Amino acid sequence: MAAKETAGILNAPTKSLPAPVSTQSHSSCSTTRAIGLFAIAGALGLLVNHACWHDTPLTHPRNFHHGGTEALTNICPQAPELIPQRNFDIWESLGATYDTDAFKAKAVNWLSEAVQVPTESYDSLGPVGTDPRWEKFYAFHAYLQKAFPLVHAELELTKVNTYGLIFVWNGSNEGLKPLLLAAHQDVVPVEPTTIDRWTHPPFSGHFDGTYIWGRGSCDDKSGLIGIMSAVETLLETGYKPTRTVVLAFGFDEESGGIYGAQTLAAELERMFGRNAYAMIVDEGSGYGEIFGRNLAMPGVAEKGSVNVRIEVSTPGGHSSLPPTHTSIGILAELLVRIEANPFRVHLARNSPPYRTVQCLAAHAPNMPDGLRRNILASGYSDKALRAAEDVLFTNSPAFKSLVGTTQAIDVIQGGVKVNALPEQAWAVVNHRISTESSVAETEVHDTEVLKSLASKFNLTYTAFGKNVVDHDDRGAYAFLAYGNLTLSEAFGKGGLEPAPTTPFEGDDAMPYRLLSGSIKMTFNRHRNVEGDDDVIVVSPGIMPGNTDTKYYWNLTPHIFRYGHIRTTGTLLPNVHTVDEAMSIDNFVEIIRFFTTLIMNVDESALS
Ligand SMILES: *[C@@H]1O[C@H](CO)[C@@H](O)[C@H](O)[C@H]1NC(C)=O
Ligand SMILES: *[C@@H]1O[C@H](CO)[C@@H](O)[C@H](O)[C@H]1NC(C)=O
Ligand SMILES: *[C@@H]1O[C@H](CO)[C@@H](O)[C@H](O)[C@H]1NC(C)=O
Repeated sequence: MAAKETAGILNAPTKSLPAPVSTQSHSSCSTTRAIGLFAIAGALGLLVNHACWHDTPLTHPRNFHHGGTEALTNICPQAPELIPQRNFDIWESLGATYDTDAFKAKAVNWLSEAVQVPTESYDSLGPVGTDPRWEKFYAFHAYLQKAFPLVHAELELTKVNTYGLIFVWNGSNEGLKPLLLAAHQDVVPVEPTTIDRWTHPPFSGHFDGTYIWGRGSCDDKSGLIGIMSAVETLLETGYKPTRTVVLAFGFDEESGGIYGAQTLAAELERMFGRNAYAMIVDEGSGYGEIFGRNLAMPGVAEKGSVNVRIEVSTPGGHSSLPPTHTSIGILAELLVRIEANPFRVHLARNSPPYRTVQCLAAHAPNMPDGLRRNILASGYSDKALRAAEDVLFTNSPAFKSLVGTTQAIDVIQGGVKVNALPEQAWAVVNHRISTESSVAETEVHDTEVLKSLASKFNLTYTAFGKNVVDHDDRGAYAFLAYGNLTLSEAFGKGGLEPAPTTPFEGDDAMPYRLLSGSIKMTFNRHRNVEGDDDVIVVSPGIMPGNTDTKYYWNLTPHIFRYGHIRTTGTLLPNVHTVDEAMSIDNFVEIIRFFTTLIMNVDESALS
């Protein structure tokens, strides 16, 4: 079947997993039929849509594939499709169930009704118990209880910090590490001024025959309800897992996860222990067509972040006798300097975005020929690497942002009255830190960039608690000290380091291969496809935003941010904006994905 042919022609020989088996031995399947978050696809999508390619695409991609060099087989190795073996009959019958209109109608109700329960979280929320705005989550819990009776009857539910939910589905073998599936109950608020622009009201859950509309239909109720639907449907068949499955649903992911995932993490660690989970799958990117090939990009890494506050203070006074530069004028020059000195960005060979473009070079038929040649050669040639990087960064600034440490000046404040000199002015720069860098390196960069201006304005310069330029050192000129420049971590909150990268190759990558095989099986079964044009390629990806998993590092090294959300088509999911919507076809595919993943991980040899 498709996977077999692809594996033979394009892919490196994969270490086969002890169990479950690849569908290569289940010919019955070969003839059956067939989205922080979405930025990789978005970033690369820009690449695809950009009109300025200097190269023409290959006219005969198949010649490229069949005539490909040996070296190609070592680039972007692919795991084969995986289906459960022991419970194959259940998997197959569920597959048929998911194809029916009756199931589709059920799935529409599940997601649509979930969207109708507003669960917005806000940046300004106070602790649980003090802020009444959290109470709307009771209604969501009541909905879950009504919609998923078997999950509530058979799994053990623990509520953490009132609104966090952990469901434990005991496996028969307590010696196996549990699979942890995560999602979040909250959604971003709807901007009041945009409500009229929604085709259907944001909490209507309207179904138009193709799409379920509304805030959260994609982010992340499709994940949460997708998981619940898969478990409920598995329970209906009488399925009993061997390996324990744990579901963990935070309730403030969109505002940092402080009250939700952070407290869930402690309870999850208390329940099973540190490093005691086989793998975690939380929300994240999905799949879509890029350069003529469907590509799925589970996030194996997540960027770090830090908010740097830049504060200038100078003596106040009456504005009729002003100095040449006020605090605001000085701050303005500092900010111009910041923007004029962005972080240097290079595509590092071991970084996930590099792996993504390698996968495209090895598997995507419509990648421009020159770019493909440079990417393929970049494994050993620095010149080719720089050339590829140049084309990628020029054509897709979003891709460049994904690779490097970014900076965005997002908040500014200063001055109180038109006739008073501002004693203070400050701004906050939001940085998203490259997986190749760190909080410390980011802070050093900012500190250095502003150093000469601190001297120029005779400011005493303190950065992150350390003295950088001190006018006391100036001896006789100390009297010229004019004011202070202070850099600090804004809001009293420390930075977040980039997440440790989840293993995606070598002996330690069995969870990655299990996930890959499950993605492929889901994609192909959902379409009943045969033939290598339809086969999806799986590549390690990166999460540009953060997820609840930033609190879950202690639980396992195998963390994936992946939601099987379709990122191309006539209507994009519109995450975080007007007209968020999820197609019912994609939603059923998401349920199929979680079902396949649960069953495959259950039978795997992961200890
Ligand atoms: C699951 O297993 C644990 C540990 O053996 C046990 O304490 C708990 O009661 C079980 N829960 C259910 C719902 O069977
Ligand atoms: C600068 O900082 C020093 C030490 O905290 C303080 O004494 C001084 O008043 C500050 N200068 C201005 C202009 O705010
Ligand atoms: C800073 O101090 C120098 C002397 O060290 C002086 O010449 C200069 O005018 C001062 N600059 C400002 C902006 O006050």
